[in-house]
Amino acid sequence: MSHTRNIVILTGAGLSAESGIATFRGPGGLWEGHRVEDVCTPEALARDPELVHRFYDARRARLAEVAPNAAHVALARLDAEWPGQLLIVTQNVDDLHERAGANRLLHMHGELKSALCAACGDSAEWEDSLPPEIECPNCGTPALRPDIVFFGEMPYHMEVIETALSDADLFVSIGTSGAVYPAAGFVQTARHHGAQTLELNLDPSAGSSLFGESRLGPAGTLVPEWVAEMLDRG
Ligand code: OAD
Repeated sequence: MSHTRNIVILTGAGLSAESGIATFRGPGGLWEGHRVEDVCTPEALARDPELVHRFYDARRARLAEVAPNAAHVALARLDAEWPGQLLIVTQNVDDLHERAGANRLLHMHGELKSALCAACGDSAEWEDSLPPEIECPNCGTPALRPDIVFFGEMPYHMEVIETALSDADLFVSIGTSGAVYPAAGFVQTARHHGAQTLELNLDPSAGSSLFGESRLGPAGTLVPEWVAEMLDRG
């Protein structure tokens, strides 16, 4: 990976697994005891707002019990020390990247610690529980929902991400199963623009064969090793 200046890193649930946050596609196929379509779609929110809000309230409350792991810390170090362009794009809705100190970071699937008003489109930082009847601080309508990109909704920051991918010399995917688009297609976009590609994951992902190099193991071990390689070389 000589001549690497611009790096785009995609992270997924596997990055936070060693912090004690459950991944989505575990052995039972359930996410924290629920089918994804019962808690992560606009239809679910319309049908049973109490359930969806309670579900995300529990996930938000859990953040106080977990901490960044060695992989988050290593990526924050790379962010601080890498002299070229760098962008961490996370599919995770937890706040562990920022608590580890990462700055060049985008949450493409939203954030647990944010509430989105379905009436005015404003979003606000949110720490506590979010009952469906609570009023939007901006417009006063009781239309706040978890600021999570549900299935069928457009992920955030896509233009910035596409530009970064087209300028990338290296694309690295960490702890994601490659099952959800558009994130699963980033490796192809990056390759198309001439980037080298590396996957760090516990198991081979759906798109493993698309990567130039694949390293298998826990993120808490693989990521600090890779970051040390990059910074030694740089
Ligand atoms: P998944 O649960 O689909 O995949 C997690 C991946 O992490 C799997 O490939 C595991 O093998 C791997 N993994 C598990 N433990 C690991 C560890 N310690 N180190 C490294 N890898 C490990 O999660 P995502 O790919 O992130 O969307 O899921 C993508 C999206 O699907 C999520 O962002 C979510 C969900 O619907 C929203 O919430 C909007």
